[in-house]
Amino acid sequence: MSIAPDSGLSTPDSKPNLGVVGTGALSDWEPGLRKAKQKIVTGDARDTRLKADSVDLVVTSPPYWQKRDYGHDDQIGQESTPQGYVSAMMECLAEWKRVLRPTGSVFLNVGDTYHKKSLVGIPGRIEAAAVDAGWLVRNRIIWTKDGGMPEPAKNRLANRHEYVIHLAPKQSYYYDLHEYAETYGNGANPGDVWHINPERNMSAHLAPFPQELVRRAVMLGCPPQICTTCGAPRTRVLERTRILDPNRPQARRAMELADEAGLSDEHIRAIQATGVSDVGKATKFQSGTGRNSKSVQALAAEAKDVLGGYFREFTFAKKVTSGWTDCGHGTPARGVVLDPFVGTGTTLGVAVGLGRDAVGVDLVPMVDQQTPRAVK
Ligand SMILES: C[S@@+](CC[C@H](N)C(=O)[O-])C[C@H]1O[C@@H](n2cnc3c(N)ncnc32)[C@H](O)[C@@H]1O
Repeated sequence: MSIAPDSGLSTPDSKPNLGVVGTGALSDWEPGLRKAKQKIVTGDARDTRLKADSVDLVVTSPPYWQKRDYGHDDQIGQESTPQGYVSAMMECLAEWKRVLRPTGSVFLNVGDTYHKKSLVGIPGRIEAAAVDAGWLVRNRIIWTKDGGMPEPAKNRLANRHEYVIHLAPKQSYYYDLHEYAETYGNGANPGDVWHINPERNMSAHLAPFPQELVRRAVMLGCPPQICTTCGAPRTRVLERTRILDPNRPQARRAMELADEAGLSDEHIRAIQATGVSDVGKATKFQSGTGRNSKSVQALAAEAKDVLGGYFREFTFAKKVTSGWTDCGHGTPARGVVLDPFVGTGTTLGVAVGLGRDAVGVDLVPMVDQQTPRAVK
């Protein structure tokens, strides 16, 4: 299978003129796009030969330092010092920055290594080097798991977590917290700990990568569609409703009080415009309502009289997707996920399943992949 070599983009050449397309449903704007595809190329993660500005998200799990020997002269992970390993990973990051679009980012799954009886601090060293190289470390996600390899040590605890570092070259990276929060946090930000147990299909590979981990990264970081003319990802347009989370007693009480007093949608929008700040002082611009005029302040004050302390509940009201941004060029394509240490191809399968195109790079093409030898 192959995807067009320029499934990425040339450098953005015109400023997008953002409008809104479709409704909240992905199905409204999917027709017209060909099916999601994957391709795998033989190569080095430090020199992928992919086009610049052609990838939206990197999701990957490199060989950890001094863990497994993949039997290739150019492999990463067998450097004699942690410094050597970190510098190889920094070469990777520089290459990935080149292939990422300006809205791209990286989810890097990396674990630590014991050396001379001590943890070496590999993830922290990578983060520090990345920050020094100008990257933004947006999250250090802790991936916890119940099971794991049995460990012989009797004087320390078995290791049951790894890290997934989210790095972005620029602040303009794409991020869809809305769908993620709906799926994993009942609408609220679910936090930076991912509890994901090994999956059944992972047994054949000694360095497994759970599909669920990839799924979360793709949902958060890879736009479903990008424009092949200007490179703008379509982003979700959100509209706040007056629907509160009925699981919270305070929210239920707030809805009762609002209904009893017959508060109008304008009252609710006024609450949302003034936010949690003091009604009288609210002057901040808030999208959807415009500058808080005297009448908005008056409506918010009326609502506060009725709701008292429950007023702020409506500032947490559910948001719904009312559409997706449209730059107007009419040249959409699927977002592209890259795994530069593709191994058995877990990332590609998940990305394609989520409607993204996917590219994998590995020194050893997947079909020839030998089971790696554990390093003592
Ligand atoms: C930890 S495994 C990836 C496992 C993968 N996430 C999966 O689910 O199967 C690391 C992979 O990196 C590859 N590799 C090692 N050094 C590399 C390099 N310099 N460039 C590209 N791939 C490399 C190995 O061949 C191996 O397939």
